[in-house]
Amino acid sequence: MKACIAGTGSYAPARVLTNADLERMVATSDEWIRERTGIRERRIAAIGEACSDLAVQAGKRALTAAGLAATDLDMILVATCTGDYPLPATACLVQHQLGATKAAACDLSAACCGFVYALSVADAYVKNGMRHVLVIGSEVMSAITDWTDRNTCVLFGDGAGAVVVRASDGERGILSTHLRSDGALCELIMVPGGGSRTPPSEKVLAERLQYIKMKGNETFKVAVRTLEEIARATLSANGLRVEDLDLYVPHQANVRILKAVMERLGLPIEKVLLNLDRYGNTSAASIPIALDEAVREGRIKDGSLVMLGAFGAGLTWASAVIRW
Ligand code: UT7
Repeated sequence: MKACIAGTGSYAPARVLTNADLERMVATSDEWIRERTGIRERRIAAIGEACSDLAVQAGKRALTAAGLAATDLDMILVATCTGDYPLPATACLVQHQLGATKAAACDLSAACCGFVYALSVADAYVKNGMRHVLVIGSEVMSAITDWTDRNTCVLFGDGAGAVVVRASDGERGILSTHLRSDGALCELIMVPGGGSRTPPSEKVLAERLQYIKMKGNETFKVAVRTLEEIARATLSANGLRVEDLDLYVPHQANVRILKAVMERLGLPIEKVLLNLDRYGNTSAASIPIALDEAVREGRIKDGSLVMLGAFGAGLTWASAVIRW
């Protein structure tokens, strides 16, 4: 028995922040950002627009695509590192807003890998008899971005993507998921303040420790290595070759990282979904937003063989292969 994706949805806030806008905020240039990252613009949540607001919109669209009502849901998983509150889980706010009165709800924290990790949880639950699980990746990265730090503020954006997972009635479905972590590399990407190790204080605010810090160059190298490793392991576990894939949907962090991975794997660019020029890095939301675009643009059809690949803070890295 397999679990499959029955519908996808996504939502991006209305406000567009371009590279030209960033030129007016920090010492950067449109040319540097485009050449070093591939990003042209990103979406930014409105003041007062929180993670659950984005998640609800994406979730509604995924339910519509799946032809289901919110009351059909047994579980809601929200992958995020920018929830509305430290407590309670954002998924509970989403459950209430959707009117998913029969659903359990909790969040999953695995940074940019959160969606693939949550998809693997949904896969396991459905194989164990749960009927419908809504998996959402939703992020308001702008809330943890230091808008005075040019090393990071040009990279991130806000958005949400969602899928409904249910039992498959045929060959289609999630063929396998692969999850990895290495906490020895936790300092590569981190929000150092505001948690139980360094609770919120005036010092935290003065030192801007509530914002994301990243060792970009080291992360870049690890990202290329881990994405290649997990892609090869995923293909080999399923007896597949790179040529068998119809589409690779990677976490959208940096086009140069993805080009290096494509080169190492021998994957042509036509088989890779790239949309980071318009969204930047939306962390856990990036893969489900990309999946939804690919489905709506007809790049993923019934029968397509799709591989996901993610890496991010933790360090975590993860993949999945899906017969659509
Ligand atoms: O999903 C989370 C995972 N995170 C990532 O995937 C990020 C991975 N890393 C990256 O994408 C890249 O490392 C960056 C885009 C962050 C940086 O690109 P890079 O080619 O690794 O540049 P660098 O860090 O080696 O810095 C090169 C130069 C530095 O100047 P100096 O020291 O050579 O004078 C930086 O200060 O570029 C400078 N720089 C900038 N210049 C203009 C850094 N940020 C900017 C900026 N505008 N926004």
